Amino acid sequence: MTDHARELTLVLGGTGKTGRRVVARLTAQGEPVRIGSRSGGVPFDWADPGTWAPALDGAKAAYVSYYPDLAAPGAPEAIGSFAEMAVNSGTRRLVLLSGRGEEEAVASERALTGSGADWTVLRCSWFSQNFSESYLLEPVVSGHVALPAGPVGEPFVDADDIADVAAAVLTQAGHSGQVYELTGPRLLTFADAVAEIAAATGRPIGYTPVPAADYARALAAEGVPAEVIELLTYLFTTVLDGRNAHLRDGIQQILNRPARDFADFARDAAAADVWNPLTVHA
Ligand SMILES: NC(=O)c1ccc[n+]([C@@H]2O[C@H](COP(=O)([O-])OP(=O)(O)OC[C@H]3O[C@@H](n4cnc5c(N)ncnc54)[C@H](OP(=O)(O)O)[C@@H]3O)[C@@H](O)[C@H]2O)c1
Repeated sequence: MTDHARELTLVLGGTGKTGRRVVARLTAQGEPVRIGSRSGGVPFDWADPGTWAPALDGAKAAYVSYYPDLAAPGAPEAIGSFAEMAVNSGTRRLVLLSGRGEEEAVASERALTGSGADWTVLRCSWFSQNFSESYLLEPVVSGHVALPAGPVGEPFVDADDIADVAAAVLTQAGHSGQVYELTGPRLLTFADAVAEIAAATGRPIGYTPVPAADYARALAAEGVPAEVIELLTYLFTTVLDGRNAHLRDGIQQILNRPARDFADFARDAAAADVWNPLTVHA
């Protein structure tokens, strides 16, 4: 494969919260894109390295969103092996979606940046869309959220902002070798975030901080797998201990505009009816 023939950008997690938004932006700019996921036209599975080379074929760049989480066991090894394969096969431009304040995520970042890739790291706070497109959707719709999260502030970041940044750094020069921290513009506790959603929907939605052990027991009773429970408990306890309770200006720096506020996210998601119990449970 000559460099001239390399046109594609491989978007891992290309049907997920950030990836599908990255795909939309690159496609709108006329950039050829390949979705890298188990359901992609050329399937990509983190658990099956045999799927990686076909997904990389013809790619000049890749947006690397790991699944399930960079804090999961085996993530640094998988990211390192993938980056090495990418570089060796000619896909040198790699943009990694990472998390803030996670030792394990830093290990994954090192595995990628040490591969010889032309890299950029996007270190993100918790996504606002966890409340509308992920594991917090169901509790919000049910009208009550109980989490092992107390008075600690988190600068929830909008997946649309992350995708705008990812599309910019994938298509513009000047971002190689940079670690950008992407946060929202305001610190909110989980209780604050749920209150913003309640205000946007016009429905009462309660919030109760619970001990981590009670949360783990409740998830187990719902049949959530043990490794997912361990991961969520780790994120809510170890990572949400105040270490990330500060804002960063990565979004302003790259996009030359402020980060999107959680209230705007809540207003738009409510308008799209994502938290309507009648339509969601229909
Ligand atoms: N959520 C947050 O608040 C947050 C914050 C900071 C950093 N992060 C990081 O962001 C990354 C993505 O997390 P997310 O919550 O946003 O998930 P997500 O991208 O919404 O996850 C779903 C995507 O992963 C794909 N996928 C699932 N299993 C896969 C597998 N075995 N192999 C390949 N692709 C697979 C899915 O497609 P298919 O089902 O078609 O495979 C889908 O495209 C994680 O590494 C996490 O550490 C998340």
